[in-house]
Order: sequence, then structure tokens, then C-alpha cells
Amino acid sequence: AAAVSVRSEITYVMIKPDGVQRGLVGEIISRFEKKGFKLVQLKMMKVTKEVAEEHYKDLKDKPFFPDLIGYILSGPVVGMVWEGQGVVKAARKIIGATNPLEAEPGTIRGDLAVQTGRNVVHGSDSPENGERETALWFSGHGIVEWEAHMKPWLV
Ligand code: TYD
Repeated sequence: AAAVSVRSEITYVMIKPDGVQRGLVGEIISRFEKKGFKLVQLKMMKVTKEVAEEHYKDLKDKPFFPDLIGYILSGPVVGMVWEGQGVVKAARKIIGATNPLEAEPGTIRGDLAVQTGRNVVHGSDSPENGERETALWFSGHGIVEWEAHMKPWLV
């Protein structure tokens, strides 16, 4: 029988404007790279109101929604897609709790941020949203399919 191609899980991670302006792009990318996940898309972008509102559409009735959109529009962001088994949940662990004061040391927010409204990074909260957000932010570009020739970090 022909092999069935199964695309492994993906998550959309975004370095928010404060992370970019504070010079944390390399630091944040590094944490996912060192863990062993696979980078399959990456781009610096100026955000439009339409995309920001669509990205956070589930929060549109929250009182903090206007401030959240203003924050996301306040400067360029770096969007990326990481692929791997269990990547959605693992990325949320690497990122840490929404409120950086409650995020564990060792997490990105726990180490690098103070305020919920300036929490430096986004990560999709489900595999479905990983697909949805990737389609939204990288519309028409998809992900880059590539394989490392050797994977000594995965056995
Ligand atoms: P949410 O999806 O709940 O958190 P996470 O980013 O950890 O998945 O909220 C999205 C963003 O909205 C969050 O990163 C920061 C902002 N936000 C506030 O500004 N105030 C709040 O009270 C909450 C819950 C979120």
C-alpha cells in the first residue's frame, strides 16, 4: 500500500512588537530551535488591523480587546511556524503563563516579561488554531517542507 503522508502538528508563534523592539528575536527563536522543533516558516511583518482582529477574534468581546489590538499594531512582529510532535502544547510551556508574573522562571514570559499586556510572544492554543493562524498570517505561502539529513536529537 502507498504510504500515507501525515503532516505533523504545527503551531504559530509570534514575537510581539515589544519583543522585536527589545531585541529579543534571537533569544526567543533560540529557545524553540534548541528544544529541537523544526522551523518551517518565518517572516517579519507590519500588521494590519484586519489580520490582528481576525487573529484574536475569540477575544473580541473582552474589555482589553482594543488595547490588545493597539499593542499588536504598535510595531512590526516576527511570525513563525514550528512543526513537531506535540509542538502546540510544548510551545505553550516554553512560552509560559499569560501573566508573566505568574509564568515560571525558565519560560520566555517568566524570564523576559512583566505585564500581561506586554508579554512578548504568542503561541497557538490548539492544533486547530495552529493551522488557522498559519493560514491567516502566511496566506498563500504555506510552510516550507524540508528534512534534516540526520536527526541525532530524535531517536
Ligand atoms: P489569551 O489568549 O488569553 O492568552 P495567551 O496569549 O497566553 O494565549 O490572551 C491573548 C492576549 O491578550 C494575551 O497574550 C495578552 C492579552 N490579554 C490582556 O491584555 N489582558 C488579559 O486580561 C488577558 C487574559 C489577555
